[in-house]
Amino acid sequence: MTSNNILVLPGDNIGPEITSEAVKVINQVKQSFNLDVNVAYGVIGGEAIDNFGHPCPIETINLAKSSKAILLGAVGGPKWDSLELVSRPEQGLLKIRKELDFYANLRPACIFDDLSNSSSLKSEILEGLDLLIVRELVSGIYFGEPRGIFTNDAGDREGFNTYRYSEPEIRRIAKIAFKLSMQRNKKLCSVDKSNVLEVTRLWREILIDESENFPEVALTHMYVDNAAMQLISNPRQFDVIVTGNMFGDILSDISAMLTGSIGMLPSASLNSDNRGLYEPCHGSAPDIAGKGIANPLATILSVAMLFRHSLALEDAAKVIELSVKEVLSEGYRTVDIFTNSIEEKCLSTIEMGDMVIKKIKELVH
Ligand code: IPM
Ligand code: MG
Repeated sequence: MTSNNILVLPGDNIGPEITSEAVKVINQVKQSFNLDVNVAYGVIGGEAIDNFGHPCPIETINLAKSSKAILLGAVGGPKWDSLELVSRPEQGLLKIRKELDFYANLRPACIFDDLSNSSSLKSEILEGLDLLIVRELVSGIYFGEPRGIFTNDAGDREGFNTYRYSEPEIRRIAKIAFKLSMQRNKKLCSVDKSNVLEVTRLWREILIDESENFPEVALTHMYVDNAAMQLISNPRQFDVIVTGNMFGDILSDISAMLTGSIGMLPSASLNSDNRGLYEPCHGSAPDIAGKGIANPLATILSVAMLFRHSLALEDAAKVIELSVKEVLSEGYRTVDIFTNSIEEKCLSTIEMGDMVIKKIKELVH
């Protein structure tokens, strides 16, 4: 494995459109910083089902294992909706997360000042928002066994899943969340449902125990229903939120809307040796696929996270983030964040990618 192999998995619908802009950014950064970075491609999701009969073929897993980082577009779409749960495109994503043990999912929600009018919430409650959701990604109810649908003795069908966490699984995500809190404002809120669910009672117990190793971090706890409400009513009270797989899935979509558009939210999913899977938080958006209007910024910002966390190239990460910020402050928008103001110019996916690249070139010479 050369140290800087990046595997790109474009996936379905808008996936290829947004990842091709992100790859342009990788190539520009590679050139501007004179880096040794190699990009290879693989298949995942519906495309992989159609061509290889599996949403995450073994070839993709092998390529992923020999890469330092993976950049993924999005998977899924109506074309595959009628498939059984176990063979849907989403399984490809779950499989790659699980196989490479990408357990720590970092979902930052930061408001770009220039976009505070794009959210459906009032800009005064959002100004300066900068929160990070740390979601456990390879266990919990998504993966718990037993699971299934069966017919009970009364002849009625029953569906069931298992919500479980082992102590080591909780402890390792807690450690990551505490460490990240130490690099930020030293405030960590653990979200659970420990008034009802034993599994999250254990979660809370371990968080409290682990906090002894991080005495500078102020640890608080919140039930998930309250956390959903607080994210809407007073989001700036949060710095880092740590939670399980399903609650994190839901809360991160809520926090995405705080930033104006889900088209802006990047994510990193790390394993214990900092290899990572980087993807936008949004889905494959079949309704706009092929129209050239998808917002590539969440994927481009995921590339910044990739340079930061898996390649340890903080300067490159910062330049990408700054370029996005400046492009936005110059009024360039894709349609999802366009508010029709005369200071704004609405761009296509490709034009937005080009604009970020132009900015990177200006910032690094
Ligand atoms: C996400 C997505 C996935 C998840 C789906 C596509 C399996 O919603 O990354 O948030 O639930 O984890
Ligand atoms: Mg989700």
